[in-house]
Amino acid sequence: MPQLLITEPATFAEVAAGEIASRLRSALARRERALLALAGGSTPRPVYRELARGSGLDAGEWARVDFFWSDERVAAAGAGSNVTTAVRELLGPLAILERRIHRPVLAGSVDDCARSYECAIRAAVPGAAADRPRFDLVLLGVGEDGHTASLFPGFLPEAERAVVATESPWPPRERISFSYELLAAAREVLFLVSGSEKAAIARRLLEEADSETDLPAARVARAATSVTWILDRPAAGELTSRAP
Ligand code: 6PG
Repeated sequence: MPQLLITEPATFAEVAAGEIASRLRSALARRERALLALAGGSTPRPVYRELARGSGLDAGEWARVDFFWSDERVAAAGAGSNVTTAVRELLGPLAILERRIHRPVLAGSVDDCARSYECAIRAAVPGAAADRPRFDLVLLGVGEDGHTASLFPGFLPEAERAVVATESPWPPRERISFSYELLAAAREVLFLVSGSEKAAIARRLLEEADSETDLPAARVARAATSVTWILDRPAAGELTSRAP
C-alpha cells in the first residue's frame, strides 16, 4: 500500500529529507552500502539542500552511500543538468568522494549514453551483472503530464534495458532514463511532488490511476515494491481523500 505524506510548503524539504535519511539509514543497517538514485528537476533542490544542511546522516553514513541519477538531460551540460544540480546542492556540500558518485558519461549518441550508463550501473551495483540492479531508494519527481524520470506518456521502451534513451516533448529533448523495469526493481520509490501546478496530476495519479492508466508515474507506482508520496499541501489541493 503506498504511503502518502502531506506537508505544509514550509516543511516539505525538511519532511522529505527526514524520510530519505531514514530510508538510507535502514538500508545501511542491512548492508555495507546504500544505493541511491537521485531525481532531477527543480522539486528536489530544497530537499537536497536540507539533506546537506545536516538533517540527514552523519559523515560516516554518507560515505557508505553510492549516488546515481534516475535520468539525465543529455544536451543540458552545465546548469540545466540533473548531475550539476545535485552536485551543487548535495554532493559538493557533503564532500562525497568521487568514487561514490556514478554520473552518466554523456558522449556519442543518446543510445550510447544510455548503454554506457547501464554498463556503469551494472559494474557499480553488487550482483547486477546478471540481474536487474536493485537500488535501495529511488527519488522521483512527476511532470504535469504524468511523466517521471524521463519516461514520458506514449514512450514505448525497449524491453530488457535498464537504462533507455528517450525523448522529451520539450527541450532539452534528448534524455536517458532508468527504465520501468529498473525502477520497479527498486526496494523503495519516493515521489516528491510540490506546487499547485501539480495538483491535477497528483489527483489523477493518486485517485484515478488504475490498471488502465498508462501515465508513466502511475505505471512505476503500480510496479514498485514500496512507494511513498510526499506532497506539499498545494500539490495535494485536489485530492478528495487522504488514502492513495
Ligand atoms: C527531469 C526530471 C523530471 C522531473 C519532472 C518534475 O530531468 O526533468 O527527472 O522527471 O522530475 O519533470 O520536474 P520539476 O521538479 O522541475 O517540476
